[in-house]
Amino acid sequence: MFRVAIICMSDKGSKGEREDISTKVIEEITIKNGYEVVKKILIPDKYEEIQKNLIEICDNNQADLIITTGGTGFAKRDITPEATESVIERKVPGISEAIRNYSMTITKKAMLSRGVSGIRKETLIINLPGSPKAVRESLEYIIPELWHGLEILTGKAFDCARK
Ligand code: MTE
Repeated sequence: MFRVAIICMSDKGSKGEREDISTKVIEEITIKNGYEVVKKILIPDKYEEIQKNLIEICDNNQADLIITTGGTGFAKRDITPEATESVIERKVPGISEAIRNYSMTITKKAMLSRGVSGIRKETLIINLPGSPKAVRESLEYIIPELWHGLEILTGKAFDCARK
């Protein structure tokens, strides 16, 4: 079983002004797919705070997967992708490309999400947009393929058996 940490970036949510439904959606989908949710964090859109939380989880090996939600758009305070990029050691562009590709078949506004994905140590980090609808559409699409990637990343599988 892989461990997942969920980080929601929301100025309003962190002040208790908005209910964090996106985290619940991520929790529901990951549990359904066999993951264990080990951490749920709600923080404001602050660069240093995002960095600090990502580094802490990765460097202490607290989760195999970190899914973030929010802060990927064009608002001045949307800095999740920049904070994520500053901590990752290896980029995984294909996951974010897949999210945008598929999402654009639903809404062309998906091109406005700047989310990135990458690896720090043995943890995969994926940025999702902020709305519960976008979270569900994105995560349900990518989740079947993540397991294999995590198996390779954590050394539980060494080969990509071709069928
Ligand atoms: N992706 C999917 N699958 N479905 C959506 O409804 N909304 C888009 C986009 N990605 C959307 C989506 C919109 S309207 C915006 S502004 C961006 O995500 C950025 O969202 P964020 O700032 O909440 O991260």
